Amino acid sequence: MPPPPIAAAATALPVAHLARVVAASGSGGATPPRAAPRRGRRGKPGFSRRSAIKKSFHQEQVVFSTPVPADPTVAVIGGGASGLSCASALAARGVRSVVFDTVRDARPGGRMATRFVDGGEQLVFDHAAQFFTASDERFQRLVDEWLDSGLVREWSGLVGELEAGGRFRPIHSLTPRYIGVNGMRPLADAMLPETDMIKVLRPCWISKLEPFNGLWRLFENEKPRGEYDAIVIAHNGKCANRLLSTSGLPLLTKQMKRLELSSVWALLAAFEDPLPVPRIDSHGAFEGAFVRDVDSLSWMGNNTRKLFPMQTGTPECWTLFSTAAYGKRNKVPQENIPKVTAEKVKEDMLGGVEHALGLSKGSLQQPIYTRVQLWGAALPMNTPGVSCIFDPLGRAGICGDWLTGSSIEAAVLSGMSLANHIADYFVSNGDRPEEFAIGLHEDLNAVEGHDIGQFPGD
Ligand SMILES: Cc1cc2nc3c(=O)[nH]c(=O)nc-3n(C[C@H](O)[C@H](O)[C@H](O)COP(=O)(O)OP(=O)(O)OC[C@H]3O[C@@H](n4cnc5c(N)ncnc54)[C@H](O)[C@@H]3O)c2cc1C
Ligand SMILES: *[C@@H]1O[C@H](CO)[C@@H](O)[C@H](O)[C@H]1NC(C)=O
Repeated sequence: MPPPPIAAAATALPVAHLARVVAASGSGGATPPRAAPRRGRRGKPGFSRRSAIKKSFHQEQVVFSTPVPADPTVAVIGGGASGLSCASALAARGVRSVVFDTVRDARPGGRMATRFVDGGEQLVFDHAAQFFTASDERFQRLVDEWLDSGLVREWSGLVGELEAGGRFRPIHSLTPRYIGVNGMRPLADAMLPETDMIKVLRPCWISKLEPFNGLWRLFENEKPRGEYDAIVIAHNGKCANRLLSTSGLPLLTKQMKRLELSSVWALLAAFEDPLPVPRIDSHGAFEGAFVRDVDSLSWMGNNTRKLFPMQTGTPECWTLFSTAAYGKRNKVPQENIPKVTAEKVKEDMLGGVEHALGLSKGSLQQPIYTRVQLWGAALPMNTPGVSCIFDPLGRAGICGDWLTGSSIEAAVLSGMSLANHIADYFVSNGDRPEEFAIGLHEDLNAVEGHDIGQFPGD
């Protein structure tokens, strides 16, 4: 097969200096990226495996040249806050989408996760996001809708900083703190309007993207999962890197590879008796605390108190998070945590609770329920500071918290912003791609915030 022709006109396009732009061939549509022509094993001397590997880093850019159809459909890969808000905003603009998520035993929501455990009495834990703030009026409007429909309420529980040894200092804030009335995950449902414009497919792990005949073909392992006019990557971490690395989207791949993510251990623990936490006159016990100077603990929250303030008695459910530093040092494959590691992490984190509360070693009651989980791609540590990324030549975009920060607000706004961008691009019929390139070249800068993310405005 002859090497693909190089599109002369493409040199003016923003991607040209990074990737060889492959012209669309035949009857039009997208050309799949092709590997550099290979020589036989006994080919030219000097053509080593190493150079072949090196070459594969230089993916060729896929270019879609067919007009956008009148009724396009977008594949959104990831059903967290960003993917769902993207699908919802696309629907509002009249664009169909299919949301894919890997979640097996629940509905999607990603890191907006709530775990319900049935063990006599029901135990409820927010598994990642604990509470959130709103600093942007577009997100505030959504929060106001949630408040009106009773899904969200303002959280007036005592929150503050807990120093190792048990000194607690309240953090008073003028910015309201919000929580999901029945936990965070139900908010994910609320993000999906009832409309046949959006389909949700799960559990489905998209493992391959392939441009074909003017469309993106998606696969789960070898199983075809449909053909779409554009794709949205609404997840990050190793999974996204792998998915992008062979897709013919060198600019998206490069930006995604720059992202650094923290790892955080979560320990969900239910106790029969109340934990001996410090009491502040007139406030009582704290409901949430950012823990300082304890290696294995960065947050502890009494989720029973937060979610069921009228409930008295026990058991009480606490969500505990490690520091990012501890997560980094104790990283294991999150889908396959060795038993010894789980046991060690549990001991370390319960030890951290003793240390934080100023209790003597070994004096903390044994929890009646525990569950250890690693958030292997917990929070972004750097960000390009753009609301979304879109490659108009490849008709592919990225949304997610990491585009501007590390919060639910950041994730939701990024999804909305990418949806509007793609809808505008569709309206333009794909005629002026250069006007729609966004976020493809920005450097990433460090994200400030807690080990459990940011609370904009707080
Ligand atoms: C421990 C912890 C505590 C936090 N606390 C707070 C807090 O208190 N307040 C706050 O505002 N924020 C908090 N955050 C951050 C907040 O949860 C995130 O910023 C937000 O939920 C991110 O949403 P997202 O859509 O960008 O990504 P995600 O929620 O991660 O969604 C990505 C989804 O894509 C799916 N997926 C991945 N790969 C594939 C694939 N190949 N095919 C199909 N689906 C795929 C995943 O299963 C996941 O559901 C916390 C995060 C963590 C980890
Ligand atoms: C935790 O919450 C429960 C339920 O509201 C409450 O009864 C208990 O006193 C709280 N624990 C502490 C230590 O404040």
